[in-house]
Amino acid sequence: MKDAAPQTIYLKDYTPFGWRVESVYLTFRLAASATRVLSKIRFAPNPDAPDQRFFLHGENLDPISTRIDGSETTPRAVAGGIELDVPDAPFTFEAEVEINPAANTALEGLYMSNGMYCTQCEAEGFRKITWYPDRPDVMAPFSVRIEGSEPVMLSNGNPGASGDGFADWHDPWPKPAYLFALVAGDLVTHPDSFTTASGKQVELNVWVRPGDEGKCAFGMEALKKSMAWDEATYGREYDLDVFNIVAVDDFNMGAMENKGLNIFNSSCVLASPETSTDANFERIEAIIAHEYFHNWTGNRITCRDWFQLCLKEGLTVFRDAQFTADMRSAPVKRIEDVIMLRGRQFREDNGPLAHPVRPDSFVEINNFYTATVYEKGAELIGMLKTLVGHDAYYRALDLYFDRHDGDAATIEDWLTVFEDATGRDLSQFKRWYDQAGTPRLSVTDDFKDGTYILNIKQETPATPGQTRKAPRIIPIAVGLLNPNGDEVQPTTILEMTEAEQSFTFEGLASKPVPSILRDFSAPVILEHEVSNATRAFLLAHDTDPFNRWQAGRDLALDTLLNMIRDGAVPGTDYLDALHTLIRDDTQDPAFRALALGLPSQDELAQMLHDHCETPDPQAIWEALETLKQVRAEAYQDTATRLYARYQVTEPFAPTAEQSAARSLANAAMSMLNRLDGGALAQKQFDDADNMTQQLAALSALIAADKGETAVARFYQQWRHDRLVIDKWFSAQIVHARPEDAAAIAKTLTQHPDFTMKNPNRFRATLGALAMSGAGFHHASGDGYDLLADWLIKLDPLNPQTTARMCTAFETWKRYDTDRQAKIETQLHRILAAPDLSRDTTEMITRILG
Ligand code: ARG
Ligand code: ZN
Repeated sequence: MKDAAPQTIYLKDYTPFGWRVESVYLTFRLAASATRVLSKIRFAPNPDAPDQRFFLHGENLDPISTRIDGSETTPRAVAGGIELDVPDAPFTFEAEVEINPAANTALEGLYMSNGMYCTQCEAEGFRKITWYPDRPDVMAPFSVRIEGSEPVMLSNGNPGASGDGFADWHDPWPKPAYLFALVAGDLVTHPDSFTTASGKQVELNVWVRPGDEGKCAFGMEALKKSMAWDEATYGREYDLDVFNIVAVDDFNMGAMENKGLNIFNSSCVLASPETSTDANFERIEAIIAHEYFHNWTGNRITCRDWFQLCLKEGLTVFRDAQFTADMRSAPVKRIEDVIMLRGRQFREDNGPLAHPVRPDSFVEINNFYTATVYEKGAELIGMLKTLVGHDAYYRALDLYFDRHDGDAATIEDWLTVFEDATGRDLSQFKRWYDQAGTPRLSVTDDFKDGTYILNIKQETPATPGQTRKAPRIIPIAVGLLNPNGDEVQPTTILEMTEAEQSFTFEGLASKPVPSILRDFSAPVILEHEVSNATRAFLLAHDTDPFNRWQAGRDLALDTLLNMIRDGAVPGTDYLDALHTLIRDDTQDPAFRALALGLPSQDELAQMLHDHCETPDPQAIWEALETLKQVRAEAYQDTATRLYARYQVTEPFAPTAEQSAARSLANAAMSMLNRLDGGALAQKQFDDADNMTQQLAALSALIAADKGETAVARFYQQWRHDRLVIDKWFSAQIVHARPEDAAAIAKTLTQHPDFTMKNPNRFRATLGALAMSGAGFHHASGDGYDLLADWLIKLDPLNPQTTARMCTAFETWKRYDTDRQAKIETQLHRILAAPDLSRDTTEMITRILG
């Protein structure tokens, strides 16, 4: 068997597999370093795809034996798998292979985590378990027997017989191999049950290591809410007798939707008030929902090939966002999502890694689980819903589930469903799937004789491999306010289809103030010259909560850019408008806390780059520090009052209401922290009975250079808890002064608790450095050097996590020649590492451009 040579795969080359799989029987004889996998697979020729050579994927498999219809055969080893001569009729393929889970540090296929067996097969991990057509368009019912001495042995579907040393599972729903899962180990369950709308009783379990039982209840509640919500909102019921969730400490991603057996990074499911922040709770609820929702959007209807990944991911992210909006606060969720989209997806879309939501080629598919496929993919669903309207959206979804249940579908299938359900032509909308890059809208306006005109121009900059972009259809939600602040035109959707277009509003008494792109109705960059007085007006009066927040954000950006460019002092427009808002107790505290948030260092750097200026990371950091100091001084009395007013006195509950109060109080605390030498933060740290309060205080103390005792105490208190210690690692780096960040990160990599084998710990340390703005980009180049050192070390063990973290360098062309030269040196150093993985090679090559 040879390794697959790196080659580019193209969407246009898709061909179906020449056989159908009628059934799969797998037997696992578990042993940590020598697990035997026996397979018995029934194949039948696929009349739609005749005349192919019979090829099965397989990687790192030790072949023991292979049979066709009972007779031994010797397969030919070819790149990435094996070929065999097979009958021109249905046949049974049998194989026995040996694999080594204990040696599997890539965490793909079957591997060990803390003595527990677990799997991760998406996208192409099943081929590391046994020979198989490991492609999502090959679907089959799986029966699994697990033999071993582990107390708990789980696989997909419903449980069958079990006894001393074995457990049987059968999954009646045909599925692709990427949804296969196996878990075995010393696990305990937090059990519950759910009765579906049609009265079917489903057994639910959250499986964890002994000791973590106390951290399951919140995840279980989130699961039950998700099940009820998908019935109520999309009419989708669960379809097996059991639903299992397992928490695993070593996991490359957040979680995985394996049929009936979701596997989670423990950081995305374990929760308790003492160890999890409010943000953790919200994220856990969303990820549980996301994986559960995949049962219909991903599993019952899967993807024909990996180019269609956004078919399941974009839609499922959209669905989990709807869920969170319903469970919590819709405006808060929208604002949080847009901050994330701009921070991660816009950054990606405007750099060397830009790719369409549906890419047309890849080398390593794991490199395409990106913010573009997921988050921009979700934005496309949102735009589609806006364009067709609420009722037509749900009609189209019903048709989608009806027509494609059991299929491996494509984006064309998806859009055809919408065309059939609504009668709309979506050919222009399809460009959103094919064209990379973030469109820029520039807006001017005119008012004459009661008629108001908005002139809008759209333009998308070139991206790698795509120089010219055709205009896309863009739903632009607009409302108009009169100068008193009354809404004279409620939200209306302008459908922009041309490169340049004008929209007219008649019968207005005076020139209105426009509120454009309400609720962030399209993933675009809006360029509209607006005075700070108008922004302050919108912050006070807009009826659209997203655009109220955006007006405050624009004021902050304007203030900060002026400070960075010419050392200007923060303007009173911003300071006064924000003060008016945060003082007003009739306003949602969560909204006020969000309004007090500031753009990230990275967003400011991107903004300057967009304006053809070279960002200076140190100047950006200093401007943010200055602004925070000025705000603290200007708002001192208000901050003191808000801190007292928004203390939560009831017992901790991870609700949106309590979380809102804590986030505003903590925003006040971090202002006061700049004035009192850390006294209040220290008191909060000492008194805290929940992680939200404790971590906010720890972060404030570190930022004020007063963290030494708290850092030591926090470690002593939490040394037994891996997830909390991850927070301890990252807080010290993220809140360090820029000149210290790399040295602190380096020292932490020498801490006895540091290990590069655990992706969470690696991310908490090196990932934190990569996200530390001026720390990572410090002129010394030490941050670049340290990250490159560790990427080179990690790559042979875990290519997936290494490749993902290479994105730290994706913005390198923004910076000055000195920084660019330093980064380029590191990129070439990584590329020169012997036997660099296909994953990392592809990423570095694309980043170099
Ligand atoms: N499908 C999973 C989810 O979004 C993520 C799997 C990621 N796998 C990977 N190899 N990148 O829920
Ligand atoms: Zn997903």
